[in-house]
Amino acid sequence: MNGKKILVTGGTGYIGSHTVVELQQAGYEVVIVDNLSNSEADVVDRITEITGNSPKFYKIDLTDSDALREVFVKEKDIFSAIHFAAFKAVGESVEKPLMYYRNNLNSLINLLDLSGEFKVKNVVFSSSCTVYGQPEKLPVTEQTPVIRPESPYGNTKRISEEVIQEFTIAHSGFNGIALRYFNPIGAHPSALIGELPRGVPNNLVPFVTQTAAGLRDQLKIFGDDYNTPDGTCIRDYINVVDLAKAHVAAISRQVNGKMRNSFEVFNLGTGQGASVLDIVKGFEKATGKKLNYTMAERRLGDVEQIYANASYAEKELNWKAEKTLEETLKSAWEWEKKLRNIE
Ligand code: NAD
Ligand code: WQD
Repeated sequence: MNGKKILVTGGTGYIGSHTVVELQQAGYEVVIVDNLSNSEADVVDRITEITGNSPKFYKIDLTDSDALREVFVKEKDIFSAIHFAAFKAVGESVEKPLMYYRNNLNSLINLLDLSGEFKVKNVVFSSSCTVYGQPEKLPVTEQTPVIRPESPYGNTKRISEEVIQEFTIAHSGFNGIALRYFNPIGAHPSALIGELPRGVPNNLVPFVTQTAAGLRDQLKIFGDDYNTPDGTCIRDYINVVDLAKAHVAAISRQVNGKMRNSFEVFNLGTGQGASVLDIVKGFEKATGKKLNYTMAERRLGDVEQIYANASYAEKELNWKAEKTLEETLKSAWEWEKKLRNIE
């Protein structure tokens, strides 16, 4: 046991919950802060069932700095904060930009403010490949230019990275790591935790699993006339457990003090692009289920293709994605089946 205490904001959410499991299994003590705006309290019990170890949980809104201060007062010696808590629906952010700027930016500002006051020296931030837009050159390295993202959601990620970087400059000894996730998919092999979209899913894999489970009639593939081998969009789909492990690697880097700079950025992907049709075929192969799908119009705002060059994370974090796409799609289906009580 290394015993260091890690604050995990958004720790009952999709990526947060998987990361809490990996942190606990690596011997860290975890304190979760989440307001349950997009997750359920019983995730804490499910994490405990997987690890045999109950994380501390505070139901608190990070935009409430007084409530967050109480956590810092009670939880002495936090080593690092992994900051997942944010709103993440791209389309909703276009309709309600202020809601996104208010929640995502105020949460971060409160967290950094209190980290400074309570001498917490490290943060790991959930960023996104959305900050690259449609890059001219693929695969995407950390040197690929960041552009102004199309959505307010994406823009909160770009601005947050800058805020953290500027905070590290102003506070000597403070370390920030931004992890730019590509497309996280799949669920824990226990099928006790996974993605829980509310309402109709916007993202591809939850829509696929819900269609296979009979909750949706048909998957619409948004565009088959892109300039890609099969005409459908290409993404870099990363297994959520692999992704969670990258957070443990980032914390280890902070523990070991091996940072090259006070602010660092890593791409987290597999390095492999997969098309929408690859996902559909891969799902059918992995699960033996036939999927009802049809080709449809392009979705506004979609980039044609993006995938990571993941070699910097491999070199510096000693981390790489290990699970296969089929294994990952199978895990998503196992989770959906358990949710819906399907045999
Ligand atoms: P999620 O919605 O499942 O988890 C986020 C959690 O944060 C939820 O449990 C929610 O209740 C909580 N939360 C939101 N606002 C809060 C607030 N003000 N106070 C306290 N808790 C709050 O999302 P996720 O998919 O696990 O994403 C985690 C992070 O990763 C987010 O920052 C997201 O933007 C980023 N990210 C996600 C993806 C993706 O495709 N899932 C890709 C790139 C980046
Ligand atoms: C993947 C592909 C769709 C649904 C979003 C955010 C991004 C990041 C990850 C947070 C695309 C196609 C989808 C459907 C489809 N999140 N699709 N039918 O758009 O790559 O990224 O999540 O940072 O910022 O924008 O992910 O899962 O929505 O779509 O054909 O019903 O599947 O067109 O090509 P996306 P996605």
